[in-house]
Amino acid sequence: MKPLTINSLPYAYDALEPIISKQIMELHHDKHYAAYVNNFNLALEQGKISSFNYNGAVMHDLFWNNMRAPIDNNLPPEGMFPDFEKFKAEFSAAAVTVEGSGWAVLWKTENGLMIGQLEKHNLLGLNGAVPVLALDVWEHAYYLDYLNDRKGYIEKWWSVVNWDDVKKRI
Ligand SMILES: [Fe+2]
Repeated sequence: MKPLTINSLPYAYDALEPIISKQIMELHHDKHYAAYVNNFNLALEQGKISSFNYNGAVMHDLFWNNMRAPIDNNLPPEGMFPDFEKFKAEFSAAAVTVEGSGWAVLWKTENGLMIGQLEKHNLLGLNGAVPVLALDVWEHAYYLDYLNDRKGYIEKWWSVVNWDDVKKRI
């Protein structure tokens, strides 16, 4: 495997305000995400593969690109979901109920789209399924802005989803 690089955010640190603060984005990108990349590379130098850090880096790269500046009534392109409100409720429920640290993920599979959860960053290969939309529900993703209100964070997060990016991945 090759070393990973720390990719810049595709927008300014304050671009997601007021939904996600500049302070969270700085810490999240420059400390948490950077640590996954650096620790993966460090292990690689010692001939080891750290799946935890690799998956952490990959999931954050997806998460950054899945977002952009907030829009009121931010809807996906027509036809992406047969019933968007149903999808939104199911994906939100998956995110709310992640036990401890993890992710809600929309997977593209051979049989269509599927909602799932990741514990920590345990990105398991599911017969070629590819994550196309991810929501980080580790406390580091929201605690400074929302304290323990994960549900409140998830509700607000829908306005920063970059549906063009998700569409491209699907
Ligand atoms: Fe994170």
